[in-house]
Amino acid sequence: MLMSFNRLGVIVVVLLFASEAGALNNGLGRLPPMGYNTWNGVQDAVSEDIIRHRAVSMVKSGLRDLGYEYVIVDDGWAIRNATTRRLEPNASAFPSGMKALAQFVHAQGLKFGTYTDRGTKTCAGHPGSYGYERLDAQTFAEWEVDYLKEDNCNAPGGPLNKKTSLEQWSLMRDALNATGRPIFFSVCAGGDTHPFINDLTWYAEPPFGAALGNSWRISADVGAVLGLSWVTARNAMLANANLSRWAGPGGWNDPDMLLTSNPNAWYHITPEQSRTQFSVWALMAAPLIIGGPIANLSAWDFETYSNKEIIDIDQDPLAQQGSALVIDYPLGNHIVWGRHLADGGFAMAFVNCGLLDASITCDAGCWAKTPFATGTVLSVRDLWKHGPATNPTIRVPEPWSIRLGAHGSSQSFKLVANHSSFTPSLLV
Ligand code: GLA
Repeated sequence: MLMSFNRLGVIVVVLLFASEAGALNNGLGRLPPMGYNTWNGVQDAVSEDIIRHRAVSMVKSGLRDLGYEYVIVDDGWAIRNATTRRLEPNASAFPSGMKALAQFVHAQGLKFGTYTDRGTKTCAGHPGSYGYERLDAQTFAEWEVDYLKEDNCNAPGGPLNKKTSLEQWSLMRDALNATGRPIFFSVCAGGDTHPFINDLTWYAEPPFGAALGNSWRISADVGAVLGLSWVTARNAMLANANLSRWAGPGGWNDPDMLLTSNPNAWYHITPEQSRTQFSVWALMAAPLIIGGPIANLSAWDFETYSNKEIIDIDQDPLAQQGSALVIDYPLGNHIVWGRHLADGGFAMAFVNCGLLDASITCDAGCWAKTPFATGTVLSVRDLWKHGPATNPTIRVPEPWSIRLGAHGSSQSFKLVANHSSFTPSLLV
């Protein structure tokens, strides 16, 4: 009898460990991360001065207090010491070293993030972590890093090889777990992939997704030269249209960073498109990582990223990613997004990605995907006007049409059942 209890105990312990190994176990990312990343603004011309200035601006501007917490230095900082084999920052750009920089960022009440790659070299040709996962994870932990983005370039086996990509990212995941320091793990499947050809949505599903990281890219890079950046943002949005079941506390689909409308940033989109991107990213419960020069955000961009009503949608405690309620596949020009909220409300965004102005409609089929029963009268709040919408109430399932300009215009709303407008005739 005693023997069988012992055996049972051993089996339970083994099972517990089995479920822990092969899973990310850091307690982070209960809500989508928010912060700033250097890549879209300065590419690999990074330096500690840039990071210090960005951190200070995040505090002074009030963005930190709105929830933006990670300051992330992307590609371009690393060299590998030929003797110790450890990663070190390029000394001319980071003379104080990474630990001092992390501590400066922490002193601002922010968290410090950095970047590596699962391959032999990063996407911009700097040293990658392949073969050095344990040493690099220890180094990051010693530097007091809070967030690690690990990219997909120059990886043995190639960028789209499921077997080797899982093996290589798992090594870093387990090495980060082994440090004992909670480090948000951002799996960046985007590097070395093509925005128009490669499908990366499989990264959302086990054994990838939440088993591997706190966030995972589901599309190639958002951001391109020759004015093509909006096309890449739109592709990321379409890729994420039906991935909500894989996201939740601890792990998030990542459609990549936010593009500002600053024309001097390496990658940028129009002011209206950047507002659409921000709104839809919030409905998608996406990481809100601002790319682009945060120190001198235009008044427009600042207003975009500080819209508390949109941030609250992204950070809603129900933590349920939204989906496309209406979408004209295969083009994906006209989309209505919807997201359930913890207070019983529902967020909606109407988006026109087409080349022409269009009316986009939530019809009976669309209403059927919302939490509202037929006959419910809804109050409609415009999340950019910060007040009642032009159509301030609507009765389900009246068709609801919004007229939108071309190339990425949108309108975003929060709908709440207006119980005070219930009449006895609606209740029978
Ligand atoms: C890839 C990533 C980008 C960025 C660059 C850096 O393209 O997807 O987000 O990190 O590499 O080289």
